[in-house]
Amino acid sequence: MYTVKFESDEPFVYSVFGIQYPTGKPSKAQEDRTNEFNSLITGYPSHIDCLMQDGCASISHGTTFVWLAYWKSSQNYQDWWNQKAVSHFWNSLPSDSGIWREILTPSPRRSQYGTSQEHETGMGHLGSRVSLGDKAGYWGCYRDRMADSATDTFASHLNSEPVCLMKAGSRPSCPGRVQITHYPDNLCFVVEGQDHSALSAEEREYWFENFDASVNQWIKDLLASGPDSGILDARLCFEPEKGTFRNSEPRALNYNKKVQLFYFKDLRHMERIGRLNKGHVDLRKRFLESYGPEGAMAGGNICLWVETTVLKADEVECEYIGCAEGTGFMRTMEC
Ligand code: HEM
Repeated sequence: MYTVKFESDEPFVYSVFGIQYPTGKPSKAQEDRTNEFNSLITGYPSHIDCLMQDGCASISHGTTFVWLAYWKSSQNYQDWWNQKAVSHFWNSLPSDSGIWREILTPSPRRSQYGTSQEHETGMGHLGSRVSLGDKAGYWGCYRDRMADSATDTFASHLNSEPVCLMKAGSRPSCPGRVQITHYPDNLCFVVEGQDHSALSAEEREYWFENFDASVNQWIKDLLASGPDSGILDARLCFEPEKGTFRNSEPRALNYNKKVQLFYFKDLRHMERIGRLNKGHVDLRKRFLESYGPEGAMAGGNICLWVETTVLKADEVECEYIGCAEGTGFMRTMEC
């Protein structure tokens, strides 16, 4: 198991941009905008995962093209964002364009990254990969990997009521621009990725016999869990170019490379659901056994990675332009 060693404690940036296709397929204008934005961002961040998300605001309708990008510093991101061509693109977007951005600028001291393979994925592109050492395989290890956990509980100050400040209306979309300006401290952003592309026939068979059903059930459980679970938003994404390895529901989980994005109310809520869900508890145990040094799949090629980031209130900036009602923080936060 590996993690990433950042070069400094300076904040890094996650920029998550999305363009929604409410009918599932882009119109000509949406396709042009997707290509234009793609050419504006390509080559600037340390890494981009270009993904499709099933659903716009909810999984039941449409798709979204998502750029999940990692920037080594806030300066790198700002230099790009302030380029004339980028500002011009963003400022001239029509009010019905269905584009959003969520910009997170956290401290590496409140982030953790763990992966089963040494090659870089996601946040692993922001530094060098090193062994996780003894900070793995026990409950609480994600928290322990964050340097600031020694002095900060990362507890949310939101009360236990579901966070639902934006009133649901009957409009199909929010016209114009919605910028969310107030966030609570300690929201927890989670990226969970799996890549099955390099599996041998034997490992794939083992995966189906031992893990496939329980992984899919666990993710379905996460999507179905109510607001009490502390999940503010969940997105099932995948990389279409990498092909599929199964043919079932939900479609997003059929792809060799898939990435789930979650916002939790705080890290405690993520830890709690991971420990309470019997399917995940069992899955975690069997995975550690099978892929551990003595396990049947020791040295296997499945690539799993997980990123967990605690965000202070001033480290989040989101804007939604003509997006489906209930997209992202429009559902959960006050404008
Ligand atoms: C999809 C979203 C997922 C969430 C929200 C999640 C959540 C969690 C949580 C909260 C923990 C405990 C961390 C701690 O106590 O510090 C954990 C550990 C673990 N989970 Fe998951 N999990 C997810 C997916 C998966 C999948 C798909 C697998 C396996 C195929 C998996 C296998 C594991 C393993 C092996 C550990 C122990 C990791 C370590 O010790 O470094 N999880 N997960």
